[in-house]
Amino acid sequence: MKGPAAHSLDDYWPVEESLDELAQLARTAGIGVVGQMMQRLERPNPATFIGPGKVEELAEEAAQAVADVVIFDDELSPRHQRELERVLGDGIKLLDRTALILDIFAQHARTREGALQVELAQYEYRLPRLTRAWTHLARQAGGRAGGVTGGVGVRGPGETQLETDRRVIGRRIAQLKRELEKVRAHRGRHRARRRREGIPVAAIVGYTNAGKSTLLNSLAGADVLAEDKLFATLDPTTRRVELPGGGVALFTDTVGFIQKLPTQLVAAFRATLEEVVEADLLLHVMDITHPQVMRQAKAVDETLEEIGAAEKPTINVLNKIDRLPDPKAILPLASKFPASVAISALTGVGLESLLSSIEEILERRMVRLDVFIPYEMGELVDLFHRRGLIEQKEHIETGTRIAGRIPRGLLGRFHELME
Ligand code: GTP
Repeated sequence: MKGPAAHSLDDYWPVEESLDELAQLARTAGIGVVGQMMQRLERPNPATFIGPGKVEELAEEAAQAVADVVIFDDELSPRHQRELERVLGDGIKLLDRTALILDIFAQHARTREGALQVELAQYEYRLPRLTRAWTHLARQAGGRAGGVTGGVGVRGPGETQLETDRRVIGRRIAQLKRELEKVRAHRGRHRARRRREGIPVAAIVGYTNAGKSTLLNSLAGADVLAEDKLFATLDPTTRRVELPGGGVALFTDTVGFIQKLPTQLVAAFRATLEEVVEADLLLHVMDITHPQVMRQAKAVDETLEEIGAAEKPTINVLNKIDRLPDPKAILPLASKFPASVAISALTGVGLESLLSSIEEILERRMVRLDVFIPYEMGELVDLFHRRGLIEQKEHIETGTRIAGRIPRGLLGRFHELME
């Protein structure tokens, strides 16, 4: 179901395309699609989002198709949700794009941090929308976390069931935030260790289904879930890859982006997205065979801007060229994205030149220095060998003199020894 469009012409996704994407999201969540409808309005109806006549039409069509779920392509406000639930009745579950994406994320979270983040986002989304949903909520919360069911039953004096639910959810939100803090602190320590080693990190970003996991798999022989489903990868997976010039870099796969990515999710995944913010380089993977590739790229850019990663050095990776009937068909797109490399993550075509481009960018981020390393600090000579490029080396009585280049991030370790 598509409601009023309130976008400028510039970032306007054709309604049909957006609905097709919604249908794909629904299928990913295991929901079959039996019908679609849309309405153009100047502005949303304050009570029911779509007009009253359209609500009736929707109820009739849903009854005829024996549908038990209605999904709106735009986020419904708590009031819209309440009114529509009232009109549509108990037999129909009402979802909006945000709730659907949250459900998919919940199904796909594989690490503890991922699961905690999604659960938090789900509760924050549901809290203001709590109406008749108690039993349904208890079942959902009980399945995964058990936290909410554990605390109910104890209703404070004069409290309605709804107030009890709100209080219990509020407590669960606080508990989830505390648990997430712990996981994040652990991740932070891990990242700090990685930084000390100065290994450069390339974060793979892109619209959902663009081929990010497939790329990581081909680069690293990693066994990351790659499926023709939206959001198959939810948690970042990091792999070490050797570059043609002998260096190494860490590649990390990140959550897929999508238009209208729920703000709760962007907030909840902030920690995961820090991988992107702190990366030395971004690989923006695009499915060049998708009819909406330009809009998808724009949606990714907007999310990158939102998380503060818009200025990172980026290589635009034009993926799935094996599906082009004529390889020349890539040219117009390549001219739109200046820093781009065309590849097929599936067949491996173009991966070598992608790796060379990565190496070139990483080398540009190195700094030149001359150091004298006393013998008792020999581990720094090892570090220079592993992470840097040595141009000249000379052993003298008290230590080793080295001229060369190291990643900027390691400068601090050599600072005191610079000549
Ligand atoms: P999310 O996890 O949703 O963010 O997806 P992703 O970007 O990680 O995409 P994934 O690697 O799961 O690939 C999505 C689909 O595209 C899978 O069916 C892949 O086999 C297919 N695919 C990826 N790269 C290529 C390619 O170069 N050529 C072809 N023909 N298919 C590809």
